[in-house]
Formats: sequence, C-alpha cells, structure tokens
Amino acid sequence: MSQDNSNRDDDQSKSGLRKGLTNYGDAGFSLFLRKAFIKGAGYTDDALARPVVGIIDTGSAYNPCHGNAPQLVEAVKRGVLMSGGLPMPFPTISVHESFSQPTSMYLRNLMSMDTEEMIRAQPMDAVVLIGGCDKTVPAQLMGAASAGVPAIQLVTGSMLTGGHRGERVGACTDCRRFWGKYRADEIDGEEIADVNNQLVASVGTCSVMGTASTMACMTEALGMMLPGSAAPPAVTADRMRYAEQTGVTAVTMARNRLTPDKIMTPAAFENALRVLLAIGGSTNGVVHMTAVAGRLGFDIDMKQLDKMSRETPVLVDLKPSGQHYMEDLHKAGGVPALLRELRPLLRLEALTVTGRTLGEELDDARPPFTQHVIRTVADPIYPQGGIAVLEGNLAPGGAIIKQSAAAPALMEHEGRAVVFENAEDMANRIDDPDLDVNADDVLVLKNIGPTGAPGMPEAGYLPIPKKLARQGVKDMVRISDGRMSGTAAGTIVLHVTPEAAVGGTLAYVQNGDRIRLSVAKREISLLVDEAELARRRAEKPVVRPEAGRGYRKLFLQTVTQADKGVDFDFLRSEENNGKIPESR
Ligand code: FES
Ligand code: MG
Repeated sequence: MSQDNSNRDDDQSKSGLRKGLTNYGDAGFSLFLRKAFIKGAGYTDDALARPVVGIIDTGSAYNPCHGNAPQLVEAVKRGVLMSGGLPMPFPTISVHESFSQPTSMYLRNLMSMDTEEMIRAQPMDAVVLIGGCDKTVPAQLMGAASAGVPAIQLVTGSMLTGGHRGERVGACTDCRRFWGKYRADEIDGEEIADVNNQLVASVGTCSVMGTASTMACMTEALGMMLPGSAAPPAVTADRMRYAEQTGVTAVTMARNRLTPDKIMTPAAFENALRVLLAIGGSTNGVVHMTAVAGRLGFDIDMKQLDKMSRETPVLVDLKPSGQHYMEDLHKAGGVPALLRELRPLLRLEALTVTGRTLGEELDDARPPFTQHVIRTVADPIYPQGGIAVLEGNLAPGGAIIKQSAAAPALMEHEGRAVVFENAEDMANRIDDPDLDVNADDVLVLKNIGPTGAPGMPEAGYLPIPKKLARQGVKDMVRISDGRMSGTAAGTIVLHVTPEAAVGGTLAYVQNGDRIRLSVAKREISLLVDEAELARRRAEKPVVRPEAGRGYRKLFLQTVTQADKGVDFDFLRSEENNGKIPESR
C-alpha cells in the first residue's frame, strides 16, 4: 500500500486523467490514448482536467437493497459537478444476502478485490463507495483501505417498515418471528403469505439493527461517511441530500489528498466499536471491522473489545435488541445524537471525511430534543455493550455472544450437547420427532466456519427443534463456528475459533458431552478432559477441505479465521504486523 501511495503522491500536482500508470511504456502516449477514448463519450479537455471522482455503482436487479442506486448516483454526480469535479460512475459486483450462494460472506472478499483493483486500475482522484446490503460496505471499506485513494462511503439507506394486520413489520427480525410462529403452527399458510408482502416495504437495506444498519452506523463513527448520513431511509429526500453532499465532499477530499489511512486510524476503529456496542449491533460488525483493520495492518484486540463492552451500555432501542426501526433512529437524530451521548467514551481527535475531527463535528451537531429511541447513559436499554467475548477450551481463539439479545435465564447454563456434524445434518434431523433433545440441552453445529461451509454462513441461528417449539420453547443455548444474521436474537454463541473444519476443539464435541456457558465469566467450556480430547483427535484427525479449481480453491487455501476477519491472508497489509501502532 505504501509503495502505491508514493507513486500517487508523485502525481499530486496533476489531476484527472493524467493520473495513473503507464500501460504502453510511454506515459505521453498512454495519456493521449486515454483521452482519445474518453472523448468518444463527448468530454472536453476542460472536463477532463478536473478532479476525477469515481462513483462505484452497485445497483443490480438482484439487489433490491440497492434499488435506489440510480438516483443516488445522479445526486452524487450533481454534488461533484457543483464542486468543479468530473464524476465517473462505474460498476463493481454487487452482493445481496439472499441471492448469493453458498453465502454472501463467501463473496465479500471477491467484492473487496474487485473494488480495490478497479479503483487502482482506473484514473481517479477520489472515489465514492455506494453500498448498503450487509457485505457490500465492509467489502468497499476493505478495498478502499488497500487501494489508498481518497474514499468516502455512501449507504443506500434502510427500507421503510410495512404493516401487517395492524402491526408494524420490517426485515428481517419480523421475518424470523413470523416464520417461528408458522413453524410452531401459531399462524397458517394464508397469514405467512400475507406477511411476506409486507416485510420489505420498499427498496433499501433491512430496517432493523441488522448488519447493514450496523455497518452504516459503525462507518459513520469510523469517520468514513458524512456525519448524519447512516440513518436516513433509502427513499427519503434526506438520503438524496446526503448523496449530493457526499459528491461535494469527495472533490474536497481529492484536492486535499485525504486518504483512508488518515481517517481509519486505531482511534477511529475504537469509535466504531463503541458504536457497535451501544447500538446492540450485529455480531458481524466485529468480523468485518477486523477485516478492514487488517487491510491497514492491525488487529482488533478482542480483550479490549470486551473491556469496552463492560463500560458501554446499549442505548439504541432498535430491533432485535429493542423495539424500533431505522427510520425511527433517523427521526430521533441518528448517529450524531448517539455520539453526543457517548462523547465521554469517544476518541474525539479522530479525523473524518469532512477534514474535521469527530469532536469538531459533534460540537456543531444539532441540539438534543426529547425522543424515545436513543436513551441516555443513565437510562440504558442494557447496562453493558451488546456483544461479549467468550473464551475457554471450546474456543481458544475466542467466540462471541450477542448478550443484549440473549435470554437472561440461559446466560449461566450447563447442559448436554446435542451435536450436528454440518448444516445438512442439522437440516435432516432437527425436526425429527425422535431426536433426543430437551429444552436444557445445548445445540452444537459444526463445520459452518470460514472454510467449513465454506464462507461462514449465517447458519449459527439454529432453529428450535419443532417438537420443542410446539411446547413453547423459545430459546436454547446454541453454539457454532458460523455467524448469525444481525437481525436474529437468542442465546447463541458464534464465531467459535478455531473452527471445526481446521481441527478446533469444536470438531471433537460428541453427543452427551457437558458444555458450560457463563457470560458473567466470559467462559465457554467443553467439560471433557484433555486426555479424552487427545484420544478423540488421534482417532479421527480432521482433514481440511480443498477444492480443485477457481475461486473456491483460492478461498479454501487462503481464508483466515474469524479473529483475522475471514479475509484472505494475502490481502492483509504487512505493515505493523497486526499490532496496534504506537501512536494510539
Ligand atoms: Fe440487504 Fe438485509 S438483505 S440489508
Ligand atoms: Mg443480514
């Protein structure tokens, strides 16, 4: 990254199409050709001499979460033109949660590579990253961090909520709730079909504090997005105004060479993680921020995250931890209003895309008013942060639990393991009337980790076995090496590291073993002695999965564990050796 930056710095006095490397061995001829081709689209020399702002358009018929991308691109272009820049929209791949087999996470790193290389390949002085659906924002931040060109994030914004028989509904916490009711025979086929029409009431990202909303809020706190721009819904005028302003800001960033490494510092990541904890955000936020930080050469310290969690209350009352939806958060003042509450815990010196520090931005934020979505520190939704970090012999490299969305009665629990070897095994047996399972048991799912599935699917939210659901059981302790959707709730231990598919302890759990979860002690233990575990390992050693060709081969050979962000090992920066730089 540093070498590439220095090449670009040499070009600082130039702008527009002059930037870029020589691809015909003759810099003058290369520029001559580039200009000839772009003039084919009708540009004048005057237009081409201006700061070029690339605009990444991830609109796709397969991505309704980005259904407003065409309008956003137009608004960003307007902002760029207003500031004397030249807007250049271009596509990258787009990844939607429901249309990405085997799982969207499998494609996140591919999207990050597309983003990085297309920013690098094409001449531009700054870039606007338009993303929204869960994996797209992390992929864009990862790519932009590695490319090193001034970059600003714009999210598509949340969808509106719908109405079902007098009740407000939104994707996707309510999707799960209604599906659970259907499985338990509480509602019939006609009603489940009715609600299907109402859960996604407009284009835009999921309306609860799922991964998309979480990443939007964290990215604003990280300083990579305009203050206030995380929360406005997709279809609002506010969303379009932020898009225009993002275009204006991108031109200033291009002129000032405000590169991502100046914004995404360890202090900025600390702010982003504070917000993750205070919003009761998606557990995926941890994995994604770890991957982005890795692109800049440092790790997220899980012990520090847990310490922060003990001192950061959940303040935002959104589903799945609370009651409301993203449109309510916007009306309540959005992320700036939350940051004002968190101010004593924040690193105010962190720089933002505006060129001003977070502290300076907060000084100018709108004054507080009475509302019921963002609580005060004195009156939190939950006294600690949303996420707790667990350790123990079952997860020597760590695991996490979304404690704010877990059942209090299960947070100190010891039970008998009911083991599923993989997702298919679970699908085949979970609803079997003969399955030997009780409400006090611990459901264990193996082989849904980074290499196991592959791609660490969101299958960690194991359904309650049908026969128990029918008896009214709503929650059980569930453990896996996978992830779960940010819109899900339950006493669910995730990201068990190392995963089963690379020989982690999880691989050797057997039916009937005792497992202890203590959120208070931050412990997840398999109550089987080391000699017995060694015997099991020797008896049936784990063979890592492989693939013969293509992206799957690359993925299986190079993907890292959750504690390194599930990024490819060769995409991480070698700077800092994973250590947090001294300057913090
Ligand atoms: Fe795109 Fe939820 S499916 S944000
Ligand atoms: Mg999701």
